[in-house]
Amino acid sequence: MNVLVVGGAGYLGGAVVDLLLRTGHHPRVYDLLLYEESYRKPVDFSYGDVRDVERLRHEFVRADAVIWLAAIVGDRACDLDRDATISINEKSVAFLANNYHGRILFSSTCSVYGEQKDASLTETSALNPLSLYAATKIASETYLSKKNALIFRLGTLFGVGDTFSRVRLDLVVNTFTVQAFHRGRITVIGGEQFRPLLHVRDAAQAIVDSIASPITGIFNLHRQNVRIGDLAFQVRNHFPDLIIESIAMPATDARDYRVNSDKARSQLKFAPVHSIDAGIEDLKNILEANRLQPIDNPRYVNARHLAGVNNLSTVPNQFDVVGPSRGNGHGETIVLSEIANPSAKQNKPLAAA
Ligand SMILES: NC(=O)c1ccc[n+]([C@@H]2O[C@H](COP(=O)([O-])OP(=O)(O)OC[C@H]3O[C@@H](n4cnc5c(N)ncnc54)[C@H](O)[C@@H]3O)[C@@H](O)[C@H]2O)c1
Repeated sequence: MNVLVVGGAGYLGGAVVDLLLRTGHHPRVYDLLLYEESYRKPVDFSYGDVRDVERLRHEFVRADAVIWLAAIVGDRACDLDRDATISINEKSVAFLANNYHGRILFSSTCSVYGEQKDASLTETSALNPLSLYAATKIASETYLSKKNALIFRLGTLFGVGDTFSRVRLDLVVNTFTVQAFHRGRITVIGGEQFRPLLHVRDAAQAIVDSIASPITGIFNLHRQNVRIGDLAFQVRNHFPDLIIESIAMPATDARDYRVNSDKARSQLKFAPVHSIDAGIEDLKNILEANRLQPIDNPRYVNARHLAGVNNLSTVPNQFDVVGPSRGNGHGETIVLSEIANPSAKQNKPLAAA
């Protein structure tokens, strides 16, 4: 199939495109290269903005399916320019829904659940968006609800997706791994919140597996719900000298959710194979080989990189951007109240491992 991968130059896009190539599809990447200096993967590429609707309309003509990954991703990144975020994350998806009538695979997020104590949130659970990022994804889901579309509410991704694309280091497993490697120390602020985690290549697999399927609707996608404090200790298994610091302070990021992906497992035959340990090892190997240079390049962290990009609002924007203000503008820092060492079964804050 001719597959248009919108946002295909990103972290998840790199893994998706590799898999499309391996499974005999013909991907074409449409991307603004917000984080990359070049796109070197040997596939068709179109440099463009999702707000440039005439370009997009032209791209849709050739596509048997559209995989839509483009977005400003992350709470803090979305708050930098809220109008641009609404335009890129939401208005462009409304345009997609109104102007493309083939198969759509859309990446939403489990952040739509916000903070909830239910230990097994399903696709029909109440939503509780705590950020503009989550709100734009909910709006997008609504636009696509009557389309031939599969909507994946992805957990927080981790690991290395492919050999070309930027590895995101602002995702909790990757962040902890980099901190462990470079500082020998992880700072966990609290530790009780849960995040559903998923290897980036398992996410890509689920998306590509469903391209030709007739199934539509919303699907949670995660491998494991993990308490952030426990995750720090899991990372320490790979860095035995690691010091884990705990800082008790009130949460500014209240997100705390555990999801259930049974629907994807039964209806889509979703079967993730890559463990958190494998993701940590993959990234550790790259770090040990000094392949990410310099490691403090803002490029690896969406919000830090975009804070230095002044033209997000000046690229062609053909949407009417009059969105209501949404979310509460919470940052994305992981702020937790307590840390527990699962192996020692203790709940006391730890200053050092
Ligand atoms: N990575 C995660 O943990 C995670 C979790 C849940 C959902 N998601 C969703 O998966 C998708 C991909 O995420 P990612 O981690 O690869 O993010 P990413 O930031 O690495 O990739 C996003 C891509 O979209 C492109 N893009 C942004 N604005 C654009 C515009 N105006 N026009 C054209 N292209 C534009 C960027 O250049 C980038 O290549 C996003 O929709 C995100 O919301 C990701």
